[in-house]
Amino acid sequence: TDNREKLPVVWLETNDSGDNNISVMNTTYPYLGQVFEDLIDLLYSNTFMAAQGPDAFAVLQRAARELAGEFVLVIEGAVPIKDDGLYSVVVTTDEERITALEAVNWLGRLAREVVAIGTCASFGGASAAKPNVSGSVPVSEVLDRQVINVSGCPVNPDWFVGTLAHLLMYGRPELDDLGRPLLFYGFTVHRHCQRRSYFDAGVFAEKLGDIECMFSQGCVGPRTGADCPYRQWVNHVSWPVKANTPCIGCTTQEFPDGSSPFFVP
Ligand code: SF4
Ligand code: F3S
Repeated sequence: TDNREKLPVVWLETNDSGDNNISVMNTTYPYLGQVFEDLIDLLYSNTFMAAQGPDAFAVLQRAARELAGEFVLVIEGAVPIKDDGLYSVVVTTDEERITALEAVNWLGRLAREVVAIGTCASFGGASAAKPNVSGSVPVSEVLDRQVINVSGCPVNPDWFVGTLAHLLMYGRPELDDLGRPLLFYGFTVHRHCQRRSYFDAGVFAEKLGDIECMFSQGCVGPRTGADCPYRQWVNHVSWPVKANTPCIGCTTQEFPDGSSPFFVP
């Protein structure tokens, strides 16, 4: 496919565990190779690119220079702002040291769209959990512009690939009041949960492993926007409740502190 027909993407990794890019590698409709072949022109990504050091930095500089207003900036991870952002450095060469905070500010101003992938980038997530020693904040607190928040810990590959496909084919998807594409986050987990009939009948699990509704075990599906019950995970075969574990609200703004403890003792 001609590169001009693809979405140019610069993908920065900041404070996170790397779980989101690993999850994205599990994409099946389309497969990762198809994403790179047909959907996006991935200009920069410290996970997926071969170039390192000054060569990689040169790619980043070229994208900023030649594709301003065209590239989509994907940010994976929260942005630490304490001590001038020194807790996350994304570029180090003999001449340069650029923190995540500086890179997000630099590239965030030049991008056509900014996509926060995962709950750390979207809302702070685990990186900003108490006591948040690095002063990590969501991307939207650093940039004074609309950020598309594709939350999840990790993100479901469909949510991310689907958002990029939407940007390529139709432009920005409709977003909820937290900046998340309604397409994926518009309904609660609870709404379509396969154990919903138990909830409605007031029949609850007495312990983990029971087949009834796990609201009694701390399930936060009723306040979690995500389509896990019907989209599912890992080749679309299972999801937390089907695997006998409560929804811990991994897509929410409050995760993880607001869901802790994950299981009712
Ligand atoms: Fe709702 Fe959770 Fe019960 Fe499913 S298990 S019906 S999401 S409370
Ligand atoms: Fe996350 Fe709950 Fe889905 S924990 S994976 S939003 S079922």
